[in-house]
This record gives sequence, C-alpha cells and structure tokens, in this order.
Amino acid sequence: MAIQWFPGHMHRARKQIAEVMPNIDLVIEVLDARLPYSSENPLVPDLCQGKPCLKLLNKADIADSKHTQAWLDYFNSLENTQAMAITGLDKKQVKSITQYCHNMLPDRREKKLSIRTMIMGIPNVGKSTLINTLAGRVVAKAGNLPALTRHPQQIKIQDGIVLSDTPGILWPKIHNEASGFRLAASGAVRDTALDYYEVAEFTADTLIKLYPEKLSERFKLKELPEKGYGLIEEIGKKRGCLRSGGVVDEYKAAEILIHELRSGKLGQISFETPDMMIQEEQALAQKAALEEEKRQAKEAAKKKGRRQPKDKPNN
Ligand code: GTP
Repeated sequence: MAIQWFPGHMHRARKQIAEVMPNIDLVIEVLDARLPYSSENPLVPDLCQGKPCLKLLNKADIADSKHTQAWLDYFNSLENTQAMAITGLDKKQVKSITQYCHNMLPDRREKKLSIRTMIMGIPNVGKSTLINTLAGRVVAKAGNLPALTRHPQQIKIQDGIVLSDTPGILWPKIHNEASGFRLAASGAVRDTALDYYEVAEFTADTLIKLYPEKLSERFKLKELPEKGYGLIEEIGKKRGCLRSGGVVDEYKAAEILIHELRSGKLGQISFETPDMMIQEEQALAQKAALEEEKRQAKEAAKKKGRRQPKDKPNN
C-alpha cells in the first residue's frame, strides 16, 4: 500500500519552510511516539539549515514507554538534536518544552532575546493541540482529521518563546511500504485513502509479534492465531461481525481492530523500535543497491547491443 502524497505538496512545503527558516532559531519537529521513524520527515536536517532541532515524541500516553525511552536515547545521541517525550494534552508536561528550548539556546536568554521556533510535523501528529496548550488558549484548530492546519500564524507564548505555526505540515517517510501501513494504522492518513482490511492485516501481523498478551486480553482469545488474517477472523467472531449465513464480515472486524488500536483500548503500543529502523534502512539500502546494479547491467547491455554491427548486407 503506497501512501498518496503528491510531489506538489512537498514542493510547496519545502519552499515555504525555506522562506521562513532564516527567522527561526530552533525547529521543533513533532513525531508520533508510537512510530518515530515513519513520522519523521526525511528532509528535516536539510530544511533546518543547521538550526538546532527539538524532537517531541508526542502521544507518549498511548505509546509503549520502554520503546519511547529507546527512541529518546537514539535521538539524543544525534548532533544538534534533543528529544523529549510528551503528551500534548498534559499542560504541565507541555510547559516544560520552553525550558528545553532555553537549555538548547542559552545565549538568547542571556541577551534577553526571545527564541523563535517553528513547529513542524506530519498531519494529525498533534501540532495544533501542542500549540494551543503552549499558548494557553485556542490559536490553532485541532481535531482528529489529518491536514487541518492551513493558515500561517505567529504566536507569542510566555517565557520568551515565539511560535510560528507555519508552514508546519510535512510529509512522512513514504519510501518504505511498512512505514505506509504503520502511518495508516496510527491515523496519519485520511481514512478515505485507506484499504482498512489491508492495513488491519499488516497491523494484526505486527501486533501478534509485539503484543500477543494485549491482544489475548482485549479480544478474550485463549489462543492467538499465527497470522493477521486469522486474528481478524477471530475478532469478527468474538464481536459478532457476521454476514448472512454466519460468514465473518472481515471488513467490519478490520475496522474494530484499527479503531480500538487508535483509541488506546489495546493499551500502550508502539509500532517501531530503533533496532527495527536500522534493519529496515539496511534492507532498503540493499534493495536500492540491487536495483541500481540491475539498471547498470541493463544500460551496459543496451550500449553493447548498439555497438554490435548489424548483419552486413550481401554484396
Ligand atoms: P493537522 O492539522 O492535520 O496538521 O493536525 P495536527 O498535527 O495539528 O494534530 P491535532 O493537534 O489536530 O491532533 C490530532 C489528534 O491527535 C486530535 O484528536 C488530538 O486530540 C490527538 N492528540 C494530540 N496530542 C495527543 C496526545 O498527546 N495524546 C493523545 N492520545 N492524543 C493526542
């Protein structure tokens, strides 16, 4: 399943960010704590133009805390980067972001200058919720639909921090099919663009591996099926998703799994760990190298073919 993100959007966002960036001291990239790898934008280091970056692992309340800690360690080991886990709805936690900003740029406070920040992140990751909590009032539209933030805003918040809520919307990692499924399961993609069953099957396969106990508990299953499609079938039976003749309505069952996952009913769940990310990146690099090898071999064969003299005409 490929995520639809049109090059036009990417181009516009890049251009807007590049225009605003000279007046920004610190970039705040909001990531989904459940999938920090897939919700990260591959171009942020370029877009930041050398500015320090604070990675906020948002929705930490519904992520698995042991994996969140591993991600924090990973991001904190990167140059010019700091990371903190956050729950956007928790006022006390969100207020502590300003302290992180000051710690990252102590010079500006000494010079009594405010810190100009830009919040970036993929759709539905919680940017507006964070901005509203930081500002202590509703200044940005928040809702559980991707791509609500549209208009540029400059927001002064307490403690010498200025927020620019623009251009904000980034595209996620889309070069990896597994990332596409995880983003879809998390709610980062408009539901109209989704094949629920496909997403649910991938998600069920992942959850069987990572969180078998949570699945057994939530869906009251004594034995878990080995495969995702089997799990969806079992959920359908347990929840009475039956069509005429007693056949399981697997689309309804798939919706139940995705909705309950998104609303946190399955408990705190993360889809990605730093180790997984390294493995996936390696696999992608291998695939790309192989494709490049094939392309070069094809090119060479073409050239050779062109150099071969055609059959000489008989004189
Ligand atoms: P766009 O306008 O699409 O760019 O979205 P956004 O990034 O501004 O996201 P928004 O703030 O609208 O939040 C999206 C959904 O996530 C809303 O339903 C929020 O209530 C929910 N949300 C935001 N932060 C958190 C959090 O820390 N935990 C949980 N559980 N939900 C959150």
